[in-house]
Amino acid sequence: MSELAIIRDGGMLIRDGKIDAVGPSDDIEKNADDAQVVDLAGCVVLPGFVDAHTHLMFAGNRLDDFERRAHGETYVEIAQAGGGIWSTVEKTRAASDVDLLAQAKKHANWFLRCGTTTVEAKSGYGLTVEDELKILRVMRRLDEETPLEIVPTFLGAHAVPRDVAPVSNSQTAESASYKVTAHYVDLVINEMLPRVTAERLAEFCDVFCEGGYFEIEESRRILSAAKKLGLKLRGHVDQLSNCGGAKLMAELDATTADHLEKTDELGIVALKSRNVQPVLLPGSVYALGSTSYPRAREMIETGLAVVLATDFNPGSSPTPSMPMILSLACTQLKMSPAEAITAATINAAYSLNRGNKIGSLERGKLANFSVFNCDDYRELAYWFGFSQTSSVYVKGERVNW
Ligand code: NIG
Ligand code: FE
Repeated sequence: MSELAIIRDGGMLIRDGKIDAVGPSDDIEKNADDAQVVDLAGCVVLPGFVDAHTHLMFAGNRLDDFERRAHGETYVEIAQAGGGIWSTVEKTRAASDVDLLAQAKKHANWFLRCGTTTVEAKSGYGLTVEDELKILRVMRRLDEETPLEIVPTFLGAHAVPRDVAPVSNSQTAESASYKVTAHYVDLVINEMLPRVTAERLAEFCDVFCEGGYFEIEESRRILSAAKKLGLKLRGHVDQLSNCGGAKLMAELDATTADHLEKTDELGIVALKSRNVQPVLLPGSVYALGSTSYPRAREMIETGLAVVLATDFNPGSSPTPSMPMILSLACTQLKMSPAEAITAATINAAYSLNRGNKIGSLERGKLANFSVFNCDDYRELAYWFGFSQTSSVYVKGERVNW
């Protein structure tokens, strides 16, 4: 992860949206015939960032939650008091397709401006069959209508909706809530997943595995059903408590296990046993005002292909900026700038099943790259809080923003 294979005074020849050659720019120019020359002298050119964990599709924002946290309330308290994921679900359900698409395009533009050219995007703010399908269909349109590449993930199990029918014959409040959750898990498995896969609306399935959301057994049922239908697996695990989520993702041969703030040594060993890629999301730790960062060094030293992502969402991580994540990775996770860039590009590309197409600047790959106004790649993680992006190219075309 610490070997970036930098080419000083490098050049690329691009043809039909793909990289045809990479090397010293003098050699490239000699073989370029009458190609148009774009002079990027004095800049750093990197593969476009691949952001492998976002919740890009939502309506509105969570400014009230944000302000309440500033006054000392926690993420869980705010969710219980009517804020949290549920409040975004209500706004997202109420939004028309046109409005949802317009807001998603605004978000997509933010990602591009930060130098990101591919994002994974999750549903999860619908929580009914029709609303989850609506989000995934709008996501597909977004992919068609923006240069940003979108990799879709179904996250029907993001939270149990507050308006699923209450179960009247339960003895206690606890057993009533258990039955409501079981009922919703059935809906995800029996109705949502078959529709999502029949319409080919997602490549991955994710769950929020956490006490109060979906417990281990519920997460196992949902992810196993998704796997049978041909989806690959990702999971929000061990974010707020160490409840065995990393182990579950290993058992299910998931592609990634995300968050992992509370994962211990045994969890890391489990991930390594199946080479499940950790996706670390320091933006959400920072924005929630926590100090509980995941154990990135141990993961890297164990040989895991660690990924960094923004977790862009209105509640716990309102940032589309991969450079901000690089800064947090170096200052809080103690990753080197080179490790952080590997985690945000090629490792992330592999975690999205696209390691042969994007994530590095090599012959045959898509000409997706970002140009930054600095002359040492480490500056990307070092300066923080402003943009150093000067231009972004997708399939060889400069992106307008
Ligand atoms: O990744 N943990 C669950 N989901 C998101 C938060 C979503 C929200 O608060 O709207 C996360 O942190
Ligand atoms: Fe998330």
